[in-house]
Amino acid sequence: MKKFLALLLTLVMVLSLAACGGDTQTEEPDTEEPADQTQTEEPAAQGGTIGVCIYKFDDAFMTTYRNALQEILEGKGYTVTVVDGNNDQAKQNEQINTFITQGVDALIINPVMTSAAATIIDTVKTAGIPTVLINREPTADEMAVYDKLVYVGCDASQSGTMQGELILDTPNKGDINGDGKVSYIMIQGDPENIDAKLRTEYSVKALTDAGVEVEQLNLTRGDWDREKGQTICANDLAQFGDQVEVVFCNNDDMAIGALQSIQAAGRKVNEDIYLVGVDALDAALNEVQAGNMTGTVLNDANGQAAKAVECMEGLLAGDTYAAGEQSVYVDYVKVTPENVGDFMK
Ligand code: BGC
Repeated sequence: MKKFLALLLTLVMVLSLAACGGDTQTEEPDTEEPADQTQTEEPAAQGGTIGVCIYKFDDAFMTTYRNALQEILEGKGYTVTVVDGNNDQAKQNEQINTFITQGVDALIINPVMTSAAATIIDTVKTAGIPTVLINREPTADEMAVYDKLVYVGCDASQSGTMQGELILDTPNKGDINGDGKVSYIMIQGDPENIDAKLRTEYSVKALTDAGVEVEQLNLTRGDWDREKGQTICANDLAQFGDQVEVVFCNNDDMAIGALQSIQAAGRKVNEDIYLVGVDALDAALNEVQAGNMTGTVLNDANGQAAKAVECMEGLLAGDTYAAGEQSVYVDYVKVTPENVGDFMK
């Protein structure tokens, strides 16, 4: 029985490493490794030191994500330091350099600016530190220069499409006033993050692909922020009034802000206006259940954290990633009033 269990465990480990997308080859020790690092054939798990850089702590979704990361890593016996980049790329660069000087075994980095990815990759490559990038996806070409690097995230176009589908699933397909077109406002995240660009594009594309005519009343950058979501929505409702049939928010935090303005304007979600977000934050799940949000899309923070750690362990065991195969995606899931209970704790 013991032997069987051991065999099963080995099989599960091999399969999970393969699922992470790495080439699962154990490499010879890299000569570029700093001298103060011990290199073993086996994963450095149980006792390794890990540096985690978060773009800013003051982000609702990344708070869930970083807490999950910390819990999983500490649960596996790693020594973890999680640092706040305060939305400042220069500060994050310093934090990465400090981790490298301290000789961490691996890094998990949520870049402040996607446009800084090439510099970050160059730094970790020079230091020879296995690195998992999360949440802000660089281009395949930028990642290709370093084979001990992987990106773990989601395919943002999928979440956009799901937001559009949530509107298509309503009884009038979003056309509340029956004038033959869906008039919407778009509250966008920080467009530096590809999630913002793709959600904006694909939410609307789902409607037009289904043959639905659309009219964009306004598109405003809300930087993923609840208060900005509230202000933008209040301004748009003041300007466009009943013309607004759909409020697309690139994330839930902005949607929660928008909801406050929708309610303050005396509008009623799912009756005279639709509202969708992304992330499935606890607050948003409550609003979906209460009928105050049309729906949201699960951005699986726990699943991504688990996958990031799994990939990190693969890298520590010697996995390398071929160019063009360095993005590992976790699926989004549509959240509606019907299935919202499945996502609530
Ligand atoms: C999330 C946002 C979050 C952003 C941070 C996105 O994937 O949906 O809520 O603010 O990542 O980069």
